[in-house]
Amino acid sequence: EKGGYDTFMEKEIHDQPHAVADTLLGRTDESGRLVLDELRIPEEKLRDIDRVTIVACGTAAYAGMVAKYAIEHWSRIPVEVALAHEFRYCDPIVSERTLVVSISQSGETMDTAMAVKHARDLGALTISICNTHGSTIPRESDAVLYTHAGPEIAVASTKAFLAQITACYVLGLYLAQLKGDTYADSARDVLAELQEVPAKIEELLGRLGRVREIAYFMADTRSVLFLGRQVGFPVAMEGALKLKELAYIHAEGFAAGELKHGPIALIEPGQPVFVIVPGPDTPYGLHGKVVSNIQEIRARGARTLVIAQDGDEAVVPFADEVIRVPRTSPMLQPLLTVVPLQVFALELSTAKGLDVDQPRNLAKSVTVE
Ligand code: F6R
Repeated sequence: EKGGYDTFMEKEIHDQPHAVADTLLGRTDESGRLVLDELRIPEEKLRDIDRVTIVACGTAAYAGMVAKYAIEHWSRIPVEVALAHEFRYCDPIVSERTLVVSISQSGETMDTAMAVKHARDLGALTISICNTHGSTIPRESDAVLYTHAGPEIAVASTKAFLAQITACYVLGLYLAQLKGDTYADSARDVLAELQEVPAKIEELLGRLGRVREIAYFMADTRSVLFLGRQVGFPVAMEGALKLKELAYIHAEGFAAGELKHGPIALIEPGQPVFVIVPGPDTPYGLHGKVVSNIQEIRARGARTLVIAQDGDEAVVPFADEVIRVPRTSPMLQPLLTVVPLQVFALELSTAKGLDVDQPRNLAKSVTVE
């Protein structure tokens, strides 16, 4: 049942190319346009949406943070991400033109289910992105877009996260396509690129031996920091969460731009810091800005573990380790950059002799408040 792997988590990390491919499968026609009849929501109604609020918890909320950048970029509809347990006890601004998207692997997370109910009571249209057929949250929602990651057994989420991001991209591109303007063309290009991602994840999984070694020699580490910008920011948060959950190590993810506003005070000689570097073609010169961030922390003694695209030579002078990921367009990078961080957490947990699939104090679905 573990498919020859030692743990479910390792198997599920290796299932990720399929999780992404299967979540894309059957959702486009021959011309490359998205077809989401499965939603059973009239197109006019979706076209009228003027605001999106994403509700989720934990890893699913980080998928939502990635989605915010992507959906806003492609559809030009404002997107807000709310932790479900915060959303359900606040006075959110919601109308019948608000689309509330819940993201949940299990479909049973109590806080997320209650957030969906709150949104429906307030008159919003609700779509559930979910991995579990027939579960509570899809039943409570107006429509569902299933992720096809297959059952996720390990408590820590991996393949469901990639599938959630993929489903969010599909939804964002669909909203863009419905608007029918110039964005529709780029939607087709992005989808074509997305179809190439599973093979890239496969290739990446084959070259993470060095990450395993790095993790193995860090079993005594007390604290690890993660930095990213734009879509790399939620990836940093997710890398930190995986490490807390699996290896019980203090870990924190930051937006790299925040460094000077406080976190840089944490940097002392030897402090390990993962940095997720956007591709050199990322708009707003973000690549150069992150390279400067690496330079700044390195100058203060940080041990820099840099995740960068193939061919990005600018990072080399400031990196103690360079972990290479295949190239893809800026918005799609999280599907690749998070993978080394998952493997790192898995290996560090194993090196400490911990139970990777059943970390202490955690349950796979949180059906209580
Ligand atoms: C982290 C993890 C949790 C879940 C969260 C939401 O590895 O598994 O943070 O992502 O509890 O669970 P679902 O997606 O089932 O609603």
